[in-house]
Amino acid sequence: MQGKRVVVLTGAGISAESGIRTFRDDGGLWENHRLEDVATPEAWRADPGLVWRFYQARRRQLNEVKPNPAHEALAQLAEGLDNFTLITQNVDDLHERGGSSDVVHMHGQLVTLRCEASGRSEVRMSDSDLSDTFLRCSCCVEPARLRPDIVWFGEMPMHMEAIYAAVDACEVFVVVGSSGHVYPAADLVHIAKANGARTVLVNAEAPLNVEAFDEVHLGKAGELLPGLVETWLSDNE
Ligand code: APR
Repeated sequence: MQGKRVVVLTGAGISAESGIRTFRDDGGLWENHRLEDVATPEAWRADPGLVWRFYQARRRQLNEVKPNPAHEALAQLAEGLDNFTLITQNVDDLHERGGSSDVVHMHGQLVTLRCEASGRSEVRMSDSDLSDTFLRCSCCVEPARLRPDIVWFGEMPMHMEAIYAAVDACEVFVVVGSSGHVYPAADLVHIAKANGARTVLVNAEAPLNVEAFDEVHLGKAGELLPGLVETWLSDNE
């Protein structure tokens, strides 16, 4: 991969070995809630307390988990390449804590909260920010309520212009830990393939869009990626 423009897209599978549950592996329930019942603007309007408690529990969990070798391997890959973009569907901060920078979070982030009045996001992870009581922004004269800085079902994913530009231009497109269920993320491999990129998959099992990949590595990302990254950095093909 040396000298190539490389884009990596990750999903919940890369954080599974860190102890963060994926969405569709074990019935897809979160604390007995279907994601579709809590991760929507309608749910936030109907029962903001339920949605807030759901996300506060996931934000508190960040203090109990740590990056796994897969996150660290991608940080090493970035170090070894001149042209690298990391896009993630994940809202945890394990890529950053694993050494990655400039991570493109297309579904938002748990470490930041968004002001409902100004739309500005701020990092709010101190202990007093993690209880179940609602929080107020620090950007408005009249502090407004903060919402999770998450892209909910029915909302537009973030940074799509930059994402499409990177995927259109890439020569190698790698997906790690995603089931290919959710669009537009699941479409990116088809766009990369259409532009002539080599497409590579690292996943525990064949995802819905497996036919779009030139190279498929089935197994745990934490076990496979360190060795793969070593190979990718040593070859020039
Ligand atoms: N290593 C590699 N892959 C794994 C591992 C692992 N240790 N454990 C699970 N996987 C794979 C599963 O086989 C599955 O294909 O990771 C994938 C996880 O799929 P999902 O749970 O659907 O997660 P993801 O693809 O990221 O979901 C996309 O859906 O609910 C929305 O916004 C949410 O970002 C999420 C999006």
